[in-house]
Amino acid sequence: MCGIVGYVGPKIATPLLLEGLKRLEYRGYDSAGVAIMNGAGVETVKEAGKIAKLELLLDATPVTGTTGIAHTRWATHGPPNQVNAHPHMSQDGSVAVVHNGIIENATVLKQMLQGRGYVFRSDTDTEVLAHLIEECFDGNLEDAVLEALLQVEGTYGIAVISSVDTHKIVAARKGSPLLLGLGENEYFIASDVSAILAHTRQVVYLEDGEMAVLDAGGYRVIDMDAVEITKNVAHIDWDLAQIERGGFSHFMLKEIFEQPQTVEQTMRGRLLDDEGTSKLGGLNLSDEELLSFTNIVITACGTSWHSALIGEHMLEELARIPVEVEYASEFRYRNPVVDEKTLCIVISQSGETADTLAAMREAKRRGARTLGIVNSVGSTIARESDGGIYIHAGPEIGVASTKAFTSQVVALLLFTLKLGRLRGMSQERGQEIIAGMRALPQHIQTILDRAQEIEDIAEEYKRASNFLYLGRGYNFPVALEGALKLKEISYIHAEGYPAAEMKHGPIALIDEMMPVVFIATHDAVFEKITSNVHEVKARKGRVIAVTSRDEDALEGLLDYEFRVPETSDLLMPILASVPLQLLAYYIAVKRGANVDQPRNLAKSVTVE
Ligand code: G6P
Repeated sequence: MCGIVGYVGPKIATPLLLEGLKRLEYRGYDSAGVAIMNGAGVETVKEAGKIAKLELLLDATPVTGTTGIAHTRWATHGPPNQVNAHPHMSQDGSVAVVHNGIIENATVLKQMLQGRGYVFRSDTDTEVLAHLIEECFDGNLEDAVLEALLQVEGTYGIAVISSVDTHKIVAARKGSPLLLGLGENEYFIASDVSAILAHTRQVVYLEDGEMAVLDAGGYRVIDMDAVEITKNVAHIDWDLAQIERGGFSHFMLKEIFEQPQTVEQTMRGRLLDDEGTSKLGGLNLSDEELLSFTNIVITACGTSWHSALIGEHMLEELARIPVEVEYASEFRYRNPVVDEKTLCIVISQSGETADTLAAMREAKRRGARTLGIVNSVGSTIARESDGGIYIHAGPEIGVASTKAFTSQVVALLLFTLKLGRLRGMSQERGQEIIAGMRALPQHIQTILDRAQEIEDIAEEYKRASNFLYLGRGYNFPVALEGALKLKEISYIHAEGYPAAEMKHGPIALIDEMMPVVFIATHDAVFEKITSNVHEVKARKGRVIAVTSRDEDALEGLLDYEFRVPETSDLLMPILASVPLQLLAYYIAVKRGANVDQPRNLAKSVTVE
């Protein structure tokens, strides 16, 4: 989703801004632009489409200056064209603004500004801000931004420059992430750390209601009453190699192939083999507190919601506690039964998804204790939750989530071990699960070593227009996730269903043109799923099955089979999802789709 990067310092800003924008490409965008103080005034260059087009424009007519802001836009208000691209200029051209988020009272403010003679050029809510800051300007940019923001309702992460109060960037945050990067006599502003990681690993995260003023001499953070705030400087451990492709043709493929290591990283130092439990330093909950909860609510969006479904299954089976999984966007707008006896687990790769963050705040407001299962260190959910488990999967750049999913499931299992052992699960059961977990990296590697088999299946089905994914028990969420991966990146319509539920609708779709992917591993519901395979075959459907052993019951029924190593039922989602990630990947590549930046999708959805 929209990205911001800004620079102030001794260097020429344009190449730094373009580099930052490219690092933000993965978030999803449809236009891009820069605004730079060129000595005489603020000059903007912007373009619809890819950053490469903007770069061509800037090559043709270079803009030089050492203070600038830049943006990748993911359209909300108005189509993704050049006029609507950010930065937006105020009427007299003195103020340039980039903005992530949504100004909810834009219509009212626009009418007010039009009444005062401002003429609007774009369809965006952001242009309102640019004019409003000009209207409030009285010689000092931060005062003008502060005054303007007091009139604004909605969410924003903004960066602003002025041709009158020059050589500074003013940034402010409410509901949309922003951080400062601290270099040697140079300072950055960015919505995502990857934009500035090549230049500094020292960052300051802005909180809602905070404003920063940066110039080549330093930075200040103030609140909305202009009172100065002392901020902690955080150090980012990620290095540049982690946000580059490293020889893989796509980030998504790289991230799929990283899973033996990322799953290992999620477990590292957290398994207590002898006691059959886990050690989770970040929960901030005593055993007594953990035992005091009567129910758990897990809330998330997208792929993270699928991992939540697996977590529900694990927690209910092993910890015997009622668990409810809810889409964050639904949870926040109903009246859920949540109180101080509820533990609310919030799952988010980015830690910035607007609906998930709002759901967490709502759960807190109702008295629940909140735990974040998050990948992005220092993200808003990580900071605002009462405690949590970092999944340590490293930066995930591909829009379609892969390694974060498997690591989320591992993190949920770590928590299940902890709670399960407190609530009566036997030590032997815990030890058995841990032994299975320790074997996961090697098992994933054996699947990845046979990626070619999946590529062959992809070749056979790359022209299909529909896919059905079916699984039962622990593998039902795997079916949902497999279908989501395929539709996200290949644009093939795909549905995931609990296998038995197929009879209540999707069976009507089955004919010789319909590939049906079964997750038919050897588990407690294997026999049940065999009858579902028969039902599909009887209607001439094409069956692709992920299995875990040679099964007589499936003899002659499968068009394609991919065998994963055997493991316990509750660990199987981690193994079974890997071939489905590869299947989606290879089909998308064979169809010529842009795997890492699929159309219309954003990596981190920071608007409601
Ligand atoms: C977007 C991404 C998905 C992701 C979802 C939730 O839709 O494209 O891949 O699963 O957001 O994101 P989160 O960062 O909260 O896990």
